[in-house]
Amino acid sequence: MENLSQLKIGFIGAGNMAFAISQGILKSGDIPPSSVIVSAPSKNNFARFQAMGVAVTHSNEEVVDFSCLVFLAVKPHLLPTVINGISEHITPQHIIVSMAAGITLATLEELLPGGSRVMRLMPNLPCMLQEGALLLACGTGASQEVGALLKTLLCSCGLVEVGPETWIDAHTGLSGSGVAFVYVFAEALADGAVKMGMPNTLAQRIAAQTILGAGRLLRDGGKHPAQLRAEVCTPGGTTIHGLHALEKGGLRAATMGAVEAATLRASQLGRK
Ligand SMILES: NC(=O)c1ccc[n+]([C@@H]2O[C@H](COP(=O)([O-])OP(=O)(O)OC[C@H]3O[C@@H](n4cnc5c(N)ncnc54)[C@H](OP(=O)(O)O)[C@@H]3O)[C@@H](O)[C@H]2O)c1
Repeated sequence: MENLSQLKIGFIGAGNMAFAISQGILKSGDIPPSSVIVSAPSKNNFARFQAMGVAVTHSNEEVVDFSCLVFLAVKPHLLPTVINGISEHITPQHIIVSMAAGITLATLEELLPGGSRVMRLMPNLPCMLQEGALLLACGTGASQEVGALLKTLLCSCGLVEVGPETWIDAHTGLSGSGVAFVYVFAEALADGAVKMGMPNTLAQRIAAQTILGAGRLLRDGGKHPAQLRAEVCTPGGTTIHGLHALEKGGLRAATMGAVEAATLRASQLGRK
């Protein structure tokens, strides 16, 4: 793991998140596609990996035998069966990174062979554009050094933070699910303009660009969102009138409630 260019990486599960992370990693140029392999029971999702030059297989064991770093990218309820199937192939050299929402490090360590180096990763879909927000938590067998190296590898997927596991479910609500909350806001923003007579396609493009521009100003400008909002509000102007309507609609409470509900649901998934 010391030399990223030598690292062999496997994904068990070939869905959206495995694709997003592998695409982000490959875009960095540090890892060649020949160092990556992905597995899934069907061929349904293989074409987009093959198009990147990534090897595909139906054998999860083959992924473990090939790789040092193994991402578990299946739905949470499938994780115990999947781990059971690969356990005998896992060695102390492996680093196992689970992306499954709600499955705790304690559960993973219980399912995996004793002393396994395991981590949890909570990514989100914009990883595929290298604009993700990722949070990593290290299990007892994974040293801080492994966490730091993984952070370096995943930096090509976006913002990567290492933190305590207690933050993972909130990060799922904020960022994993948060992407969908932003899409709902984008749709509503565009619909508002459509209601006022703008063509739908144009309204959607402008809404997307507005969210992108506002997001970049927020991320790169170093200012608190309240300050940025105040700067757009001319006294008696259009924005403060619009904001009053948003407040009457309870946007803040609804958004906080959405993050809370998604966080609680993430923690429930692990208890099933
Ligand atoms: N999507 C998100 O925004 C997001 C965000 C954060 C975390 N996550 C977590 O990431 C994980 C993957 O989510 P996803 O959205 O990528 O799911 P997904 O698109 O539904 O993909 C799941 C993949 O798992 C494969 N699979 C099913 N059974 C398998 C088995 N026994 N062995 C190997 N692969 C198997 C599926 O195979 P087929 O291709 O044959 O169907 C599919 O490729 C989940 O645990 C989720 O909680 C997702």
